[in-house]
Amino acid sequence: MTGATRPGALRAEDCLPFGATGAASCVLNDPALNPLRIIEVRSVSWSEISEALPQVTLGNQNAFLGRRPGIAQPVLICDNAESDAEGDAMERAVHAAGLTKRYGDFVAVKGIDFDVPFGICFGILGPNGAGKTTTIRMITCRFPPDGGTLHVLGLDVRTHGRRIKERFGLVPQENNLDEDLSLLENLELYGRYFGMAGKEARRKAVALLEFMQLAEKAREPVKALSGGMKRRAMIARALINDPELLILDEPTTGLDPQARVLLWDRLRDLKDRGVTLLLTTHYMDEAERLCDELVIMHEGAIIDRDTPRRLVDRHVGRWAAEIELTAAPDPKAVAAQLPSSLRRWELVGRILHLFADDQSVLAEAVQRFPHTAQHIRPANLEDVFLVRTGREITE
Ligand SMILES: Nc1ncnc2c1ncn2[C@@H]1O[C@H](COP(=O)(O)OP(=O)(O)O)[C@@H](O)[C@H]1O
Ligand SMILES: [Mg+2]
Repeated sequence: MTGATRPGALRAEDCLPFGATGAASCVLNDPALNPLRIIEVRSVSWSEISEALPQVTLGNQNAFLGRRPGIAQPVLICDNAESDAEGDAMERAVHAAGLTKRYGDFVAVKGIDFDVPFGICFGILGPNGAGKTTTIRMITCRFPPDGGTLHVLGLDVRTHGRRIKERFGLVPQENNLDEDLSLLENLELYGRYFGMAGKEARRKAVALLEFMQLAEKAREPVKALSGGMKRRAMIARALINDPELLILDEPTTGLDPQARVLLWDRLRDLKDRGVTLLLTTHYMDEAERLCDELVIMHEGAIIDRDTPRRLVDRHVGRWAAEIELTAAPDPKAVAAQLPSSLRRWELVGRILHLFADDQSVLAEAVQRFPHTAQHIRPANLEDVFLVRTGREITE
């Protein structure tokens, strides 16, 4: 590994590559070099990195963003492969670099970079208006990007839309089944659209409705089904062409808890069968339960990325307290009373959020503030969003 053997510069230890596909990689682990500024993948050239980090001798290397455990700041992860954007794209289900979309003057997606490795469930988490659906529309070749590059299943969306469409399945944000047709008819029609013969389409439709636990409803008109059933039917339909990549835009929005659990179970099953899943959601619990890796999107930009567990550990620690203060709080007075062993704190209106690795620190801290209610619980992705943006994700 070039540079990795140079003492104090690059070493292979502590390496937690983000989205790595098993390639040898190493992390800059000289404490003097932390925190490092974020260097976007698309803009990285080794001369730029050398400028940013003059202490590091760099070979002929690629770079991508990664995280080092226990260090809040982004670090740069390097490997010693030749720079080869096409090669990168081939190894990933989705490869986006500098991806941009405008609606008139409004920039809905602001030059985002991300990679979806094959075989995992990848999440785009963000509140309404973050740019999730716009990103999905570019990935599914509904409209081309206004800037940057985007490869899906190794193919460029600008030139290979038709071939890409044959190989993914899409569950859009809004259900668009034909309400007057039966479930079976809906799926058969879709199969015919992909060029299947009638018999083949029927066989596939029956098997998929079985898989999505809808066999009993196969002959019912769609309009007679519950919201959860319609959503599962959308997934069944999206699977008719045996996609390698299943893309789901807010798969469970508006569903009741039971319907969500059933749908999650089917998605896990699909992943076990080797289907790569890419989903958007504004539900933290959904991201936490399903996603192996995720990006957090906010106002058109990606503000963080990692596994759910590492995001929580990195930003807030293990425990969270929510304290509803009795009086309108003065932030300065609050700050003066906080214990020093807190990881973070955040004041949103009258609710004081405290974060710590140790539950007893929070229990003690709660006593310092006159309150009408308090709640101590394990920290979650909702907290990560809060500390990254100062806002809550749910509307
Ligand atoms: N067709 C459109 N024309 C103009 N603005 C749009 C259009 N579609 C989405 N937007 C705006 O772009 C932003 C991102 O929207 P969207 O991608 O739907 O976000 P999300 O799916 O995360 O809720 C929002 O501010 C939305 O109002
Ligand atoms: Mg959306």
